[in-house]
Amino acid sequence: MRTTIRTLEKYKHEHRPITCLTAYDASFARLLDAADIDVILVGDSLGMVVQGHDTTLPVTIEQMIYHLEAVARGARRALLMADLPFLGDRDAATAVEQGGALMRAGAQMIKVECRGGHADLVQRMVGAGIPVCAHLGLTPQAVHQYGGYRVQGRGVVAAEQMQAEARALEVAGAQCLLLESVPELLATRITHAAGVPVIGIGASPECDGQVLVLQDVIGLTPKPPRFAQDFLAGAGSLAAAVAAYADAVRSRRFPVSGVHTFD
Ligand code: KIV
Ligand code: NA
Repeated sequence: MRTTIRTLEKYKHEHRPITCLTAYDASFARLLDAADIDVILVGDSLGMVVQGHDTTLPVTIEQMIYHLEAVARGARRALLMADLPFLGDRDAATAVEQGGALMRAGAQMIKVECRGGHADLVQRMVGAGIPVCAHLGLTPQAVHQYGGYRVQGRGVVAAEQMQAEARALEVAGAQCLLLESVPELLATRITHAAGVPVIGIGASPECDGQVLVLQDVIGLTPKPPRFAQDFLAGAGSLAAAVAAYADAVRSRRFPVSGVHTFD
């Protein structure tokens, strides 16, 4: 049976951690599906891990669709989430058009990087029938505004701002939130306050779900980020590595507070 947004809502209420990994092709989608991963994210991280760029900025909507279609052919069970690429949020009409194209290519939910002032855009997408996951915290498409991949939401003012933004996005109709590289305490607060599932990466073990970039989980990233873990080391096979990740997330052995999280 296909995982839906209702499955994720149920897991949040049952305190059953949601498992999510990225995939960019049919082979890995099949592998993740076989390991019972709940959500497969076709992330624009493909610009870095597949295309070899330093950032996600060069990824186009055509490339997103190409990879999403390949993933959709490999996955039968997982909920498919896809990223709105850089500048797909330049106005609401473009966001609806590109989000709609990704839905037609098989996505069940579109993830939008929200750097502030995105509630109206999210409302327009939701109004058009596009389910939205609002990505807060470190939004990698803004890397050059940050001057690097840096933790977001540190300090009282920034933390309060992110909490208010999370609320506004939920009110605007976002059915899921994703927090990347934010202080653990802030991620925990946002998760507990949210009525919708909150998926974390470099966030908090208390998040309703966890996501990692697939390459970081299978030892393919030369300098993996602090919040990642190589599950292939010691697992023996790709299938065992993905199963070990899923098991660690579901039993709340990953992420480890203070090891994979930020103060
Ligand atoms: O593109 C991606 O893989 C992502 C995750 C890191 C959340 O956005
Ligand atoms: Na992304």
